[in-house]
Formats: sequence, structure tokens, C-alpha cells
Amino acid sequence: MKKIVLFASGSGSNVENIVKYFKENGKVEISKVYTNNPNAYVIERCKQQGVPYMVFGRKEFAQNLLVLEDLRAINPDLIVLAGFLWLVPGAYVNAFPDKIINIHPALLPKYGGKGMYGQRVHEAVVANGESESGITIHYVNEKYDEGNIICQAKCKVLAGDTSDEVASKVHQLEYDYFPKTIEKLLL
Ligand code: GAR
Repeated sequence: MKKIVLFASGSGSNVENIVKYFKENGKVEISKVYTNNPNAYVIERCKQQGVPYMVFGRKEFAQNLLVLEDLRAINPDLIVLAGFLWLVPGAYVNAFPDKIINIHPALLPKYGGKGMYGQRVHEAVVANGESESGITIHYVNEKYDEGNIICQAKCKVLAGDTSDEVASKVHQLEYDYFPKTIEKLLL
């Protein structure tokens, strides 16, 4: 049985979607969900789904590397960032080469980098009058949103679409593509 862990900072709708996908097909275990935000709704989703979770602060993540130690003990086949907003320190990238992936809610290299996340991305896409947006699933390196791209998928942005409408199209792409891409990388 392959093992994965997930990192999230907010709502966690992708986490829930991935957990449900692999519960159904039984090929992959979700060993743990990690969050840096003690108020994140993803914690509620973990409780509902019966998935172990860990809340950590900057110290455990980037200084004493307690989170890295925990990951080493689990030794997951893949570490999946699903709406995780902190930069991943080099120690993690070096410890798990080509085993950390992220999803970004835009067509990188457009609309990536520090400060470009969640709703901010969709607002910028609408403000610039883009006619398309989408998702990028990529490997994680020490820079925000710059690792090698694994896959991208596009949606149309229509004249008059609000950022919420773009967000909802992008989320749908995430739900469709993210679990399947994880599965492909593992099996
Ligand atoms: C997702 O759209 C994900 O692509 C984005 O945050 C959202 C989290 O939603 N990630 C980033 O912006 C990372 N730079 P969720 O908490 O409902 O899964």
C-alpha cells in the first residue's frame, strides 16, 4: 500500500476530495494531514473523515524540524501540498527529492510567486482580462511555484466572470485532476 501525506492551510476542500477518492479505490493510504493553521477548516474535515492530523508552528516546521522528523518516521511515497501557503524549507526538498508536489490555481508561470495564492490569483486573472485560467500541478523546490511542471489543465474565463466564478471553475479542475495525478505518480 502506498502512503501519502497532505499539507493544507485553509478550507481543505482538496484534502477532503483526495481523502474520499482514495477511500473509494483503496490503493493509497492518507497517513496524515499537516496544517500550520490551528483555525483551519481542514481540521474539521480531518475529524469528519477520521484522518490523523498535526498542527504545527514556524518553529516545528523551519527551526527544530520536528515536522521533518515526523515525515521521516512515516516515510511517505508522496508529500502533497493542497492549499498550503508556507514556503517549504530546503531541508524537506533535499530529504524527499521529487516526492513533494503542489497544486497552484493558475497556469504557471503566470500568476505565481510569493503572495499569489487562492482568491488573490483569481482576482488578478479577472483584473487582467485573461480569457483562460486553470491549474498547475508541479514538483516543489525551494522557490514559490517554480518546480518542474507535472500537468496543467485549462478553463475558459468569460467576459463578466467574477473572481468567485473563476475560483469555482478552477476548483472543479482541481477536484478532477489532482487525485488522478497523484495516483499516476504513485502506481
Ligand atoms: C486551492 O485552489 C489551491 O490551488 C490553492 O489554494 C486553494 C485551497 O483550496 N493553492 C495556492 O494558492 C498555493 N499557492 P482548498 O483549501 O479548498 O483545498
